[in-house]
This record gives sequence, C-alpha cells and structure tokens, in this order.
Amino acid sequence: MKDATEAGFASAVQLTGDGSFMEIVELTARDDERVWIKEPGIGVDVWWRPLMFDIANGNHVEILRVRKGGSLGKHLHATPVHGFVLEGRWRYLEHDWVAEPGAYVYEPAGDQHTLVCEEEEMKTLFHISGPILYVDDDSNVIAMDDNKSLIQRAREHYASNGLGTDFVNRLFR
Ligand SMILES: [Fe+2]
Repeated sequence: MKDATEAGFASAVQLTGDGSFMEIVELTARDDERVWIKEPGIGVDVWWRPLMFDIANGNHVEILRVRKGGSLGKHLHATPVHGFVLEGRWRYLEHDWVAEPGAYVYEPAGDQHTLVCEEEEMKTLFHISGPILYVDDDSNVIAMDDNKSLIQRAREHYASNGLGTDFVNRLFR
C-alpha cells in the first residue's frame, strides 16, 4: 500500500513564497480512490472528499460524490452553502429544479433538503459553513456534523488506508 508521499500527495501542497502556507493546489493523485470517504448511515452510496478545513471559522470545502440511486438524508445548514456541479445530475426532493454540470447552487440557511441522484454519478463542489443538521420528518435533529466530527472521520479513514493519520492536516487553514 502506497503512503501519501509515494502516491504523490506531498507535491500537491503548494506553499506561498513567503512560507505562509496559505495555498492548496491539488495537482496529483486525482484518481486515488483512497481520498474518498464513505458517508456512514445518513447517506446511501455517498462519498465526500475534503479539500479544505477552515479551522478558525468552522467552514470547509469538499467534493460530494453520489452514485446513481444514492441519496443524502434530509438536512439543513445554519448558514448558506455554495455548490458547483462538476459531473452528473441531481436534485432535492423538496424542490422542483435539477442541478446539472456547470450549475451553481445556493442553499439558504435553514432550508431543509434531501439530495437524490437518480441518473449517472454526480460530483459537486460544496463550500459549507458551520454544522450540518440531519432531521427527521418532524424536523427533529437526529444527527449533526461539523468540522470536528468530519476531521475525526477523515483522520480515521486516512489512517486505515495508508495515507496516514496526518494526511488531513494538510487541508487545515
Ligand atoms: Fe445541504
């Protein structure tokens, strides 16, 4: 099993000239399946790949990947979410539009939505601020994710597949 350096990830982090470590540029290992983290429980055939964790403000950027027939449970966000569709088509059960490649999606704070992918596999870049609250049909919160839980899950995932416990640290800003 290749570790992160052998897989080419070490060269993917670009540092600024003054050494302030502010830039992240993903150049290599795009097809390394190990970067994808399977959603437990709340999602069906859902994976996510973290790209950046804003530690001070509780935001993060990820690519969400949902296979055909997959879904992500009903949830809401305390603050707005921005999305850009890279591949595939998907929709929210609660709305009448379909997101397709090149579409920008804005999720207002408090909007409850259930993501379904009924056609080919989708990939969408999301910038998510603050916690993700999963709710039941009566709007009771049944689960929650935030940077702390997501980072912990990513750390365990990368530790188990050879990329290493510290692999997620390179995404911290
Ligand atoms: Fe959402």
